[in-house]
Amino acid sequence: MNFNNAVFEASYGLFSQLPETAQLEIAISGRSNVGKSSLINKLLNRKSLARVSSMPGKTATINFYRLSNNVRLVDLPGYGYAKVAKGEKQRWNELIGGYFEQGRNLVLVLQLIDMRHEPSKEDLNMIETLVENELPFIVVLTKSDKLNSTERKERLSGLAHEIPYAEQITMLPFSSVTGEGVQELRGIIEDVTSE
Ligand code: GTP
Ligand code: MG
Repeated sequence: MNFNNAVFEASYGLFSQLPETAQLEIAISGRSNVGKSSLINKLLNRKSLARVSSMPGKTATINFYRLSNNVRLVDLPGYGYAKVAKGEKQRWNELIGGYFEQGRNLVLVLQLIDMRHEPSKEDLNMIETLVENELPFIVVLTKSDKLNSTERKERLSGLAHEIPYAEQITMLPFSSVTGEGVQELRGIIEDVTSE
């Protein structure tokens, strides 16, 4: 699969607008500011295909990127940003919830968690939802460049207790600054889309 030829396809702000699809989808989920859009850019070897911002809440729509004829990457709006108005929060929840319950052709969810911190309650809820709906997922530990080796070891052993079923879940340290984890992630995506 050539990761350099991806194109932006479309954005949707409302659940009712989401198109049906026959294509395989890989969704990127995580709290606001965790690095979802940055991961997409790094994976696709592009500077700013997905909009990145230090202001949480940048991506407020579901954005589809075409990776190949039959594979799409789906950038979800981040959850857990306290400063968003209530009505807006509800729209996001409906959008994300609707997406996961729509019976799409999801071959993999990348659940992003900031490697520096314990998973939030919302991260744990999200993992619970993925497990309950039997959706295939891995945990991507973002911003790995911000930890020194001691902190890194501490977080890896912490996460083994903090995340339910941790021993059964693939956890991949990732950095959109150093490129750590990029090749592994491309390999995982090729595996799940190769049949
Ligand atoms: P929303 O669209 O608000 O949900 O955020 P997002 O998850 O798409 O995060 P985004 O990619 O916009 O990144 C948020 C901030 O974190 C930006 O300032 C990025 O430059 C920074 N960032 C993202 N990934 C990394 C990383 O791997 N390392 C470091 N050091 N900073 C990162
Ligand atoms: Mg974003």
